[in-house]
Amino acid sequence: MPGPDPLDLTGRVAWVTGAARGIGLACVRALALHGARVVGLDLKLSPELLAVAPDSRELNVADPAAVAQVAAALAEAGLAPEILVNNAGITRDGVLWKLSPQEWSSVLDVNLTGAFHLMHEAVPLMRACGRGSVVNITSINGERGKFGQSNYSAAKAGLIGLTKAAAREAGRFGIRVNAVAPGMVETEMAEKLPPEVKQRAVDESVLGRIAQPGDVANCVLFLASSLAAHITGQVIRVDGGQYI
Ligand SMILES: NC(=O)c1ccc[n+]([C@@H]2O[C@H](COP(=O)([O-])OP(=O)(O)OC[C@H]3O[C@@H](n4cnc5c(N)ncnc54)[C@H](O)[C@@H]3O)[C@@H](O)[C@H]2O)c1
Repeated sequence: MPGPDPLDLTGRVAWVTGAARGIGLACVRALALHGARVVGLDLKLSPELLAVAPDSRELNVADPAAVAQVAAALAEAGLAPEILVNNAGITRDGVLWKLSPQEWSSVLDVNLTGAFHLMHEAVPLMRACGRGSVVNITSINGERGKFGQSNYSAAKAGLIGLTKAAAREAGRFGIRVNAVAPGMVETEMAEKLPPEVKQRAVDESVLGRIAQPGDVANCVLFLASSLAAHITGQVIRVDGGQYI
């Protein structure tokens, strides 16, 4: 007789940031498909998100007071998370000598400090229930650096450091912390790029295409599930071999 499905997330609550579209929405769909009760958190909610995750809330992850308030309200409503996907992210591209201090700090505030804010609230809630899985969406550009993205690369590299330190701190409470590093993914974020930059990513990929949001969500699902029960502190690339 087959055993229990290791991807079954029935009864688990998952918080996903940046959930209204793109990779975040794909993560919401993948987790919900496997039984999780998903709370999407985004600046602005979308009908697509609310169709799968009606408990979703508006939230700016860069605002620590708002994050604390929403986290407390969700916990009060019985929606403390066992799964947290820190996916919200923005770009403000430009060579570093042309970046304004605001373009620098806004990217750090959302892409790195936003993840810290969510983990600051979620990890104690996970501790209380004795288990948890945090998945941080970084980028291959946090590992290799990218021309015109010093702010973004720094934030994503910082997120890798945060992932590893948090994995060390939270492991003894049964909480795993990992990161997924996509290459280029076909979303609105990538649509903003010039066609030649997108073509370069296709050419770099040994599989000959850029990722779909679902490719990244599948890896997030794996890391959130008990299939990854002994994996923590890791960065898994989902980039079709774009950065080997
Ligand atoms: N698309 C790519 O090529 C690519 C590659 C590597 C990594 N990533 C990362 O994947 C994540 C998702 O990217 P995407 O391509 O789906 O982006 P996207 O721009 O399509 O979606 C990002 C979502 O985050 C939300 N968001 C932005 N700022 C927020 C804030 N302060 N608080 C709450 N929500 C906020 C947006 O409203 C949006 O719904 C990002 O962290 C991004 O850096 C993307």
